[in-house]
Amino acid sequence: MDFHGKVALITGAGNGIGRAAALGFSSRGAKVVIVDRDQAAGEATAGILRQQGGEAHFVAADVTKSADVQNYVKLALEKYGAIDCFHNNAGIEGSVAPTHEYDEDMFDRVMSVNVKGVFLGLRHVLPVMIRQGRGAVVNTASIAGLVGTPGMPAYVASKHAVIGLTKSASGEVARMGIRVNCICPGPIDTRMIQSLQTMLNPNDPASVGARYQSAIPLGRYGTAEEVANLVIFLSSDLASNITGAQYVVDGGRTATGGAVTQVAVN
Ligand SMILES: NC(=O)c1ccc[n+]([C@@H]2O[C@H](COP(=O)([O-])OP(=O)(O)OC[C@H]3O[C@@H](n4cnc5c(N)ncnc54)[C@H](O)[C@@H]3O)[C@@H](O)[C@H]2O)c1
Repeated sequence: MDFHGKVALITGAGNGIGRAAALGFSSRGAKVVIVDRDQAAGEATAGILRQQGGEAHFVAADVTKSADVQNYVKLALEKYGAIDCFHNNAGIEGSVAPTHEYDEDMFDRVMSVNVKGVFLGLRHVLPVMIRQGRGAVVNTASIAGLVGTPGMPAYVASKHAVIGLTKSASGEVARMGIRVNCICPGPIDTRMIQSLQTMLNPNDPASVGARYQSAIPLGRYGTAEEVANLVIFLSSDLASNITGAQYVVDGGRTATGGAVTQVAVN
C-alpha cells in the first residue's frame, strides 16, 4: 500500500476518521489535500502531517456549497496536479429524536452535509479522475446505512443514500479506470460518538458508552485509525477488483445485531 507519487484528497480531515485517513495516506507517501470547514482543525491536521515529514495542503470549505467544492478541487489540482484518491468523508450526526418529533431544519442540515456534500464531491472530483483515466473514491457511509437506528431518522436516511450514490457512481465510471466504494463504520471513538452519548443521556454519557460497547462482539468502540486502514486498503491497488461495494468495520456489531454470547469451551 504505497502511495508515493499519489495525491489524496480528504474531506472532514480536521478531526476523527478524516484526520486518521490523512495520517495514513501521508505516512505511506501520498501528498494530502485536507478539506474541512473548521479552519483551525484543518490547519492542525496539515501541521501534524508536515511535522512528520509529509506534504499537506489545507483548503477551508463547506462541502454543502458547490462553489466551495469546486474551489477545493481547483486548489488541489493547482497545488499537486492530480487527485488519485478521494475520501469523501465529511458528515454530521444531527440530533436524536423519533421521526414524528424530528426537527425539520435539522433534517435538512443532515441531508445537506451527508448526502449533498457527498454528491457534490463526486460531481466535481469524478470529472478530474475521468480526465486522468484513473482514481479511487471511498465515501464514508455507516452501519446506519445498512440498518435502522431508532431516534436517528435523518442520519440513517442520509447514510443509506451514501450507499446508493456509491453504487450508482461506481457503474458509471468503472470502465474509465475509476473505482468507487464506501465504508460502513460502526461506533468509532471520535467526537461524534461522544456527542451521541451526551445527547442520549446528558447526565451520564459514559453509561451509554458502556451499553453501546457491550453490544459489540469485539467489546469496544473502533478507533479512527482502524477505519482509516480500510479506507487506505480500498484506495490502494490491492483493491483493484473492488468497486461499488460497501465494507463494514464495526467490531462485529451488525453481524450479530448486538447479541453477544460467551460460548463456553469444554
Ligand atoms: N464516529 C462514528 O461513530 C462514525 C460511525 C460511522 C460513520 N461515521 C462517519 O464518519 C465521518 C467522519 O466522522 P467522525 O466520527 O470523524 O466525526 P468528527 O466530527 O470527528 O469529524 C467530522 C469532520 O467533518 C467536518 N465537517 C462537518 N461538516 C462539514 C462541512 N459541511 N464541510 C466541511 N467539513 C465538515 C468537521 O468539521 C469535522 O472536522 C462522518 O461522515 C460520519 O458520519 C462516524
